[in-house]
Amino acid sequence: MSTAAKTIMITGGAGFIGSHVVRLFVKKYPNYKIVNLDALTYAGNLENLKDVQSSSNYFFERADITNEEAIYSLFEKHQFDAVIHLAAESHVDRSIMDPLAFVKTNVLGTAILLNAARKYWKGSYENKLFYHVSTDEVYGSLGEEGFFTEETPYDPHSPYSASKAASDHFVMAYHDTYGIPVKMSNCSNNYGSHHFPEKLIPLMINNIKTNKPLPVYGKGENVRDWLFVEDHARAIDVIFHNGRVGESYNVGGFNEWKNIDLVKLLCSIMDKKLGRPAGTSEQLITYVTDRPGHDLRYAIDATKLNKELGWTPSLQFEEGLEKTVDWYLQNEEWIKNVTSGDYQKFYGELYDKR
Ligand code: NAD
Ligand code: TYD
Repeated sequence: MSTAAKTIMITGGAGFIGSHVVRLFVKKYPNYKIVNLDALTYAGNLENLKDVQSSSNYFFERADITNEEAIYSLFEKHQFDAVIHLAAESHVDRSIMDPLAFVKTNVLGTAILLNAARKYWKGSYENKLFYHVSTDEVYGSLGEEGFFTEETPYDPHSPYSASKAASDHFVMAYHDTYGIPVKMSNCSNNYGSHHFPEKLIPLMINNIKTNKPLPVYGKGENVRDWLFVEDHARAIDVIFHNGRVGESYNVGGFNEWKNIDLVKLLCSIMDKKLGRPAGTSEQLITYVTDRPGHDLRYAIDATKLNKELGWTPSLQFEEGLEKTVDWYLQNEEWIKNVTSGDYQKFYGELYDKR
């Protein structure tokens, strides 16, 4: 896609990754009209965007992607040239508690957006693009060796990853059947500011700060490949503009960590920042019942993205984690707001019986 003026719908823009993508596009491309479409579920928070909300090229529409009529009328109203689709139910543990919510938003919601693009772009696809943001979890689990490439067969194990895999298949099916120009990326675990504290890193930061137990699933030996969220947003920018239509790109941090080692690293960073004697926070580590169907290891081979488009991660993990911890320590009000009310109920339901 060229950088000529255009109108882009970014779905899920009030969430963790979406807010970083909206921020990057609003600031970097003043000639683009950016419409953030978000239902503002528990995971969506307009405070995440307060630094760009008064920009003249930024617009917000509250809508649910599973509401066909609402989506069609927004396509009618804004005449989108492109969609960057991030809206999703995104937490594996919640998908185990309520799988159908994931089928609804991630599968049906994606199909409705694709159908709206088919209907309103009316087969005239010049300068149009549907960009789907997906996850490495669709590939399933690795053993001790190897990496996920774009050719790795899909093998999802959780209701979350199964719903994302289904949505990926719909995206490619709409490309093959109707010719809609699509691009897709499958990224590893992200971390950074504005991350909802149901996921490992922000949950541990919040619990260390408030002296609560640090619930490590199983033996803590599962491995994830962590990428700084702003590097993911940069990858989306590069693929959106320069990636090949009909292709998917793996995005990863070349940065594998066992959960237990990562939690210990966070403890030591936070002991220093909070002025606690070394080793204090590690005492909060509590091994709890494992997640059912828990994938052992994710690791991305991002060679295609690097070779074709020159993207590489910009930050070392320790540096990114320090930045992230600093953000949480400086934004107490944000964490207080998102952990009040419903969060307590969710936390109790998931952790009290483990
Ligand atoms: P998130 O849960 O923080 O945010 C999701 C956003 O989508 C929220 O703003 C929420 O309000 C919105 N939303 C949810 N259901 C909706 C609906 N029915 N209609 C409209 N809006 C709705 O998620 P995230 O971590 O920012 O992930 C964003 C995307 O990136 C997802 O598609 C996810 O699968 C993918 N992804 C995430 C990671 C990660 O590490 N977090 C890694 C790879 C890919
Ligand atoms: P999470 O952040 O939920 O991401 P995902 O499951 O999508 O990779 O979890 C990251 C890893 O941390 C995963 O192996 C599960 C583990 N984990 C814990 O050990 N304790 C926790 O409280 C959470 C939320 C996750």
